[in-house]
Amino acid sequence: MSKNILILPGDGIGPEIVAEAVKLLATLRDGFGLDIELDEALVGGGAIDATGGPLPDATLELAKESDAILLGAVGGPKWEGLDISIRPEKGLLGLRAALNLFANLRPAMLYPQLAEASSLKSDIVAGLDIMIVRELTGGIYFGQPRGIRELDSGERQGFNTLVYSESEIERIARVAFDIANKRGKRVCSVDKANVLECTELWREVMTRVGAEYPEVALSHMYVDNAAMQLVKWPKQFDVMVTTNMFGDILSDCAAMLTGSIGMLPSASLDEQGKGMYEPIHGSAPDIAGKGEANPLATMLSVAMMLRYSLDEPAMADRVERAVDKVLNDGLRTPDIVSEGMTEVGCEAMGDAVVAALG
Ligand code: IPM
Ligand code: MG
Repeated sequence: MSKNILILPGDGIGPEIVAEAVKLLATLRDGFGLDIELDEALVGGGAIDATGGPLPDATLELAKESDAILLGAVGGPKWEGLDISIRPEKGLLGLRAALNLFANLRPAMLYPQLAEASSLKSDIVAGLDIMIVRELTGGIYFGQPRGIRELDSGERQGFNTLVYSESEIERIARVAFDIANKRGKRVCSVDKANVLECTELWREVMTRVGAEYPEVALSHMYVDNAAMQLVKWPKQFDVMVTTNMFGDILSDCAAMLTGSIGMLPSASLDEQGKGMYEPIHGSAPDIAGKGEANPLATMLSVAMMLRYSLDEPAMADRVERAVDKVLNDGLRTPDIVSEGMTEVGCEAMGDAVVAALG
């Protein structure tokens, strides 16, 4: 039975990079027997302009019915003045919450061809392969109460709530341990248990679940130290598992180790393995419409979709090999270009990957 894939191009460079990923999916469908149907809908700023809100009901319905979702990026300066409750980002957060996409997988892998692009010395980053498992539907991003209130003194006070229940910690722990089991068999759980009770519980539950995985080595690290260790000696990490906000911050940090955030895909999964796939970079309004964006993170997100939601690991390998080949051939978008390489735009890069599928 064919699988339904919902395409959400979004804002900024979203439509350009997603167009290349759609080209890739269409080629896999027409040339390699991938049984899929594609649908498209609005999200983010474009949806605000067309319907008044960042996550229209029609989009949410299609998202619920689909087997997997591919998202470009949301947001841009045009919508920054809006109330926080209807900003483009709320479209993304709304999708995560409504679809229960609690497990965010953010690999930070360094392509050896791009070692020069990292701001760190290449011996520190060569061979880097970290998987950050970020909890995505809980913690301070969604905790209640939240808001800005007026105190008796007349002064205003902003407040948010960091909450995690045991079951929320347990299920993200299992995702991390299962992934580690198939990789380097090490999990580092990142918390702030020396200060925050919520993450004291996080540490306790991680330890309890970890005992069920004797073949995986579990360590714990405070988030400030983890940030430092990521830049000091990142290769000490295999799988890192952490809360929603710590994961947001550490994943950007880890991404930069690899030289370009334009290379990194991500998956956000529910308990059944349904997922939303997106590049981890944002909408990059400064280069939107110029044809310069790097489509590789989005094309690699398609590979993650093939692996995690469509049960097509061989096709995922094929896409990843194609990306490897174009990098070996010296093709580079402006964000990753270095001396002696051939600079190409978004579309030419997409075409090259499609041509390299074999
Ligand atoms: C991310 C982004 C989002 C987040 C924003 C756009 C809401 O930074 O996916 O990392 O904070 O989760
Ligand atoms: Mg982020």
